[in-house]
Amino acid sequence: MRPNRLERGALNVGAKRSGEGNPTAVAFRIAGIYAAFAALWIVLSDKTALMMFPDAESLGHFQFAKGTLFVGVTAILLFFSMRTYAASAMSAEAELKKAEGEIIARLARAAEYRDDETGNHVLRVGRYCAAIAGALGMSDKRCEVLERAAWMHDLGKIGIPDSIMLKSGPLEPDERTLMQRHSKIGADLLAGGSTPVVRLAESVALTHHERWDGSGYPKGLAGEAIPIEGRICAVADVFDALTSARRYKAGWSLEDSVAEIRAQSGRQFDPMVVEAFLSVLPMIEAIRGELHDADDAFKGRYAA
Ligand SMILES: [Fe+2]
Ligand SMILES: [Fe+2]
Repeated sequence: MRPNRLERGALNVGAKRSGEGNPTAVAFRIAGIYAAFAALWIVLSDKTALMMFPDAESLGHFQFAKGTLFVGVTAILLFFSMRTYAASAMSAEAELKKAEGEIIARLARAAEYRDDETGNHVLRVGRYCAAIAGALGMSDKRCEVLERAAWMHDLGKIGIPDSIMLKSGPLEPDERTLMQRHSKIGADLLAGGSTPVVRLAESVALTHHERWDGSGYPKGLAGEAIPIEGRICAVADVFDALTSARRYKAGWSLEDSVAEIRAQSGRQFDPMVVEAFLSVLPMIEAIRGELHDADDAFKGRYAA
């Protein structure tokens, strides 16, 4: 909710008093204190030196020692203040990243909640995507961004009516058309994001149902016209859907699910991505065991 005028005024006063949120004011205050102490040191130490060392040679030695001491003390103070600054900047960034991750994960869970009560589907798909991306040689950073982005692949299900989401039998053609709108709805919800995760999430949400042979939706893109992250998420999402039990179907065995992914190589899926998936199958199995539907991994990972 937008703060009212009184609250905005209080926030501004608080910020002005503490100098927080204004780096120039903070830096100016530190530089001012430093300049005052330095000037005081120069004046007082020079006067003391002139009184204590009347001859030029001993005065020269004293001035050298004084200068060296000043540089040493300044360097130590600078070291500690920079270390404090860097530590607080790094912990603020880590906090922000954690908060972003939690908000994204909970948002993704809201979309999955109606057809997957534990919400572990989105976590598994994210981890599978990261494992496959790693096998394709993507950097750790890129894998991490993809994992988070993949959590939101079905965000658009928020906009699908309960009559379709909760239906236990197979969908009629018009219901299926409506269900397919979730990829476009999700991309619209995520459009215009300012962080790499949200920008990638928009692309993954839009393209995770495109098929390598061009028979997917919403645009019927084919081959490398589909972003690589969408091609990865397609494999991860289908594998998890096959192996998981739903209210309308039992889960397939690992062998049958892998055989289906292999059979769809070059048709539904990019063969290169299928190869990468098969190369990390032991890791995929471990993730599947770790994030089993019986456990509410969300509680363990994201509860405040
Ligand atoms: Fe989907
Ligand atoms: Fe999904």
